[in-house]
Amino acid sequence: AFTQRVFSGIQPSGDLHLGNYLGAIRRFVPLQDTHETIYCVVDMHAVTVWQEPDALRRATREVAAAFIAAGIDPARSIVFNQSQVGQHAELAWVFNCVARIGWMNRMTQFKDKAGRNSENVSLGLLAYPSLMAADILLYKATHVPVGDDQKQHLELTRDIAAKFNNDYAAAIAAEGLGAMDGAFFPMTDPLIAGPATRIMSLRDGTKKMSKSDPSDQSRISLLDDADAIARKIKRATTDPAELPHAVEELAGRPEADNLVGIYAALSDRDKQDVLAEFGGQGWGVFKPALAELAVSVLAPISGEMRRLLDDPATIDAVLREGAGRARAIAETTMDEVRRIVGF
Ligand code: ADP
Ligand code: NA
Repeated sequence: AFTQRVFSGIQPSGDLHLGNYLGAIRRFVPLQDTHETIYCVVDMHAVTVWQEPDALRRATREVAAAFIAAGIDPARSIVFNQSQVGQHAELAWVFNCVARIGWMNRMTQFKDKAGRNSENVSLGLLAYPSLMAADILLYKATHVPVGDDQKQHLELTRDIAAKFNNDYAAAIAAEGLGAMDGAFFPMTDPLIAGPATRIMSLRDGTKKMSKSDPSDQSRISLLDDADAIARKIKRATTDPAELPHAVEELAGRPEADNLVGIYAALSDRDKQDVLAEFGGQGWGVFKPALAELAVSVLAPISGEMRRLLDDPATIDAVLREGAGRARAIAETTMDEVRRIVGF
């Protein structure tokens, strides 16, 4: 048994893409060797913005299929979807009453997603970080692998844990539920493995590749076939200059930097190493090499995903079994929380 426990989740809110794979899913796989691992399809987060019910069901299976196709083993990791374990909503409510509205209003992702329309987005979108804190703390996860876009939310998780521990310190002690330091919930740490991988849009190197921007068709989907991948890389925006020899010379060239970064991430090399090979070459040489590399990495994953998605009953069975294991842990925590709160 491992002493450290990892929790992470992906929203079923659209097509999974290369950024989700390189920035998140791929990093989940080796953690199975060193940590107890819990990977969740966070469908309750997805509905903070409107989702067609059938599309949500499809996307939920697609994220589960991507987890498994990428190498997450449901026998070693708990793989489930959030809405099947009601304790997530139950703890999130308690956290809604612990967290302060001012904390939520400060979240940059809420400001980005709500835009100028912040009075007319769902209340769930504002409260999103409280549900995320519940996801993590139900399992008393010690570590969460997060992209830099989620760091602020993880800090809020720690703030909520600290305020709960403090507000209920007397009850935690009276129930004998504190750890050595008296705390009930742990301070979960981010897990930062190597340089942060942030994949940018192939159309505009200053925006991140995102599944929630329907106007951007340049995104490389994990279900794309080889032709689609090659076509999207061929069409990727670039400047006219050739590839530089030194990584410093990528500064001020976001599209070039992104494509070199994608090559580096896909081949597990650093960008300087890639430039040592391709510096001085034009895009006519680099793009086909990148396309070939991307296809070699992604084709086995998309093939396995398609095979799994042809048999939705099997995916549903995996998710149900995972929910059973998740619920056992979540109910233990929730039972203790009820005693602490006075429910
Ligand atoms: P999206 O931002 O595409 O809607 P999510 O918010 O569900 O996706 O993010 C799922 C995971 O994928 C998170 O861990 C996030 O950090 C990571 N991720 C999303 N987009 C990118 C990207 N462009 N580059 C690297 N990682 C990303
Ligand atoms: Na995100």
